[in-house]
Order: sequence, then C-alpha cells, then structure tokens
Amino acid sequence: MISRNSTTFLRKQDKNYLNKMIESHNLIVNNSEKFFGEVIIPGDKSITHRAIMIASLCKKEVKIFNPLFSEDCENTIKVMQMLGVNILKSKDMLVIKGKGMNSLEKPTSELSAGNSGTLIRLVSGMLAMQSFKSVITGDASLKNRPMNRIIEPLKSMGAVISSNEGKAPLTIEPNKLKTPINYSSKIPSAQIKSSLLLAALFVEGESIIKEDISTRDHTEKLLKHFDYPINIQGNKISIVGGKDLLAKDVMVPADISSAAFFIVAALIKKDSSIILKNIGLNPFRTGILDVLVSMGGDIKIFNKSFKGDEPIGDIHVKHSKLNPIKLSGKIVTRLIDELPVLFIACSTCSGTSEFYDINELRYKESDRIKTMEIGLNKLGIKVNSSKDSLKITGGDLKGGIVDSFDDHRIAMSFAIAGLISIKPITIMNTSNIKTSFPQFYSILRGLGVEIYRT
Ligand code: S3P
Repeated sequence: MISRNSTTFLRKQDKNYLNKMIESHNLIVNNSEKFFGEVIIPGDKSITHRAIMIASLCKKEVKIFNPLFSEDCENTIKVMQMLGVNILKSKDMLVIKGKGMNSLEKPTSELSAGNSGTLIRLVSGMLAMQSFKSVITGDASLKNRPMNRIIEPLKSMGAVISSNEGKAPLTIEPNKLKTPINYSSKIPSAQIKSSLLLAALFVEGESIIKEDISTRDHTEKLLKHFDYPINIQGNKISIVGGKDLLAKDVMVPADISSAAFFIVAALIKKDSSIILKNIGLNPFRTGILDVLVSMGGDIKIFNKSFKGDEPIGDIHVKHSKLNPIKLSGKIVTRLIDELPVLFIACSTCSGTSEFYDINELRYKESDRIKTMEIGLNKLGIKVNSSKDSLKITGGDLKGGIVDSFDDHRIAMSFAIAGLISIKPITIMNTSNIKTSFPQFYSILRGLGVEIYRT
C-alpha cells in the first residue's frame, strides 16, 4: 500500500511519478443491490464556468451560489485570478470581485485550462480581444482537440492567434483591430457561440451570431441576468459591445449531465427508485429525459421552478423496461454529453438502437464513438460504428476490464454499467472523474453500490 507519507524521502521526479500512481486510480463496480432515496447532484459545470467568467467583468461583487467545485471549474477560477480578478471561495459559494469590462490584466505566466474545452474556448474569446498577450494551454487530451473552430471566427474579429496546427497551446497577441462579427456557425457548438459572444462584449458595434442548430443558451441567459442588452430572434443573436454588466448574484442549478448517470442507473437497476433535486432543466439540455421517456423510462418531474433565469425541477426515476431507440438530427445537440451513458442504457434493451449525426462525439475529451465501442465490445455488447453513427444491439453485460481513455464521462458510464453486469466491471484510468463530478464515487457508495477504488 502506498501512502502519501512514504513520498517524504523520494526525489522530486519520483514523487511526481508516485503522486500520479496514487491519483490515477481504477474503479471496480460489482453488480449491486437495488437502490432508492434522494440524491443531491452538484452544480452545473457549463453555468459555473460562464458565471465565473462573466461575473469577472462586472464592476461590483457577485456571489455565485452552489457553483460546481470540480477540477475544470477550479481551473476557470485560477485563470480568472491570473487575469487579475479577485475571487474568494467558501464551502458552497464563490465571491467574484471584478473591476469592470476593461479590467483584465496581462497574466504573468502561461494559462492552463487543464482538461476543459469550455474553459479554453470561452476564455480565448475574451483574451483575443485584449490589448495584452497571453498563452493558454491544457492537458494532453485538450491539446488534441480542435481549436480552429474558434480561432478562425475570432481572427475575423481582428484576433491574432497562433496555434499548434489548430490545437492548443494558443498564443494570443494584442488585438488592435477589434471588429464586430457576422457569423453563421455550421458546427452545433455552444462553446463556439459563447466564445464569440464573450469576444463581442469587447468590440464596439453590432456582432451577429447565427446557429444552424440551436445549442445550450446559458451564456445568453447569464448576459441577460447581468442586464446586458442582447437581442435573440430565433437562431440569430445580436449584441453590441462596450456596455456594462450589472452585478447580480447567481444561483447555479444542479447539473443534468451529472444527474444523467443516476437517472440511467435507476432505470436499469431492477426495483430502484430515486429522486434528484433541483436539477437544471434548460430545454437545450433535456434531450436525455425526452429520449429515455420515449424508450419507456418512468421519469417524472415535480416542483418545477426557476433558479434565476434557468428552469429547474425534481426528477423522480423508477426502474423500467427500456426499448431500443433510433435518433438523429437536432436532438443530438440536446444530449451530446449524455450519449455515453445513453449507450449503456441501450445496451440493456432487447433490440438494436441506432444513433446518427453524432460526429461531434469524436471531438470530446476522448473520441467517444471509439472509446464507447471498444469498451462495450469488451463487455460483450455488439456495436457497429461509422464516422458519425453507432448501432448498439442490447444483450448481457458480461463484465470485464475497460479503459476510460482518461475521459470522465466514459469512466462514469461504465461504472453505471457495472451495477447490472454479470461479473464486476473494472474501469481503468478514472481519476478524470474529478474534472466534472468529484462526488460521483461517494454518492454511489452512499446509495449502497459496491464500488471500490483500486
Ligand atoms: C459545453 C458545450 C458542449 C458540451 C460541453 C460543454 C458548454 O460542447 O459537450 O461538455 O459548456 O458550452 P460543444 O460546444 O463543443 O458542443
């Protein structure tokens, strides 16, 4: 057994290696008993990132209640602090003491977005409109993800950005030309839209951003929350830069993407029944509920209300017999992050489920079409994929060893599969779960699930 104390007498490079060994744990999940009860899901990742960034541009103090404290969001805090913003953390709140729209300061060293695509893409929109130079990078997974999707439109706004063949690190030079943009996004991506919206805040004149397929609108909702004038007509957003944001506190709802693991868990585990409280129900995020209900899932929503501008509600889920599904087109954007765990649900159905237009899955923390196919095959499930589609024929999940390929959502999806597999499932490289859902393990254990770290 390696303990942290045993590193005391080691050289620095040995310590780094040892720390990595301690951190890069694997999980084993045994077929467990039914579970029931109330589950508290932590704050929404997308909203937490945006609330921190936008509040940093307010002139007065903003309190963010129920933010997500995960590694990705901690990196957003660090990046904004390195840009001169005073941010205080307490148990379940952040206090952001911004100094206004034009107060960001040149960082004294390279910025790191860690594993977070949302952080690098959104903050780069802001950085690309500053009069100082910055460099932003990330971990191995992030350095492998496409950045041209933001670099190209930001360049048309006068940004001077160099990259490693369209990937991080991004070197962002001072922008002397700040030009409004009229952009129609072909890729359905809230990160592209949000990056451009945040850039547009710093540009005199009207920017127009259109989407072929509408994506999550948390950035627009938060800008409105801070009284920033923004005009939304259908899929067209117009925004004029240079105005002030009015400081107002933000309440972050619970993250539906994290809730999705427990929703699928309760649906597939015989006799289970759970209640998930105060879950964000933004219509651009609730595709997973619609699809699981159409598959026969017993999912009911109670206590609907609002946290700020975001709809919320309590979700009651009971074990159900699920039928296979065929989906394509716009719905994909409404459940993009939930597809891996939906694939697990489909593995339990008798019949073949078909997913089309899912090409964007290839550009996430891993190539999720590939990593899910490899893992499901290992567990005995028949999967066929093409460039942008996947077919899953349900069957018995036999158990075995799968790799998360360092992707948090792949790791958590296979952990849920372990609840019903014949033999235990071991998931390798699961430390990345902390990027989005550090409480995942303890919540499952609290429900009586036989999950172990190795
Ligand atoms: C996110 C948007 C989505 C999603 C990601 C979070 C956001 O990415 O997959 O986990 O917070 O804007 P894309 O914009 O690349 O679709």
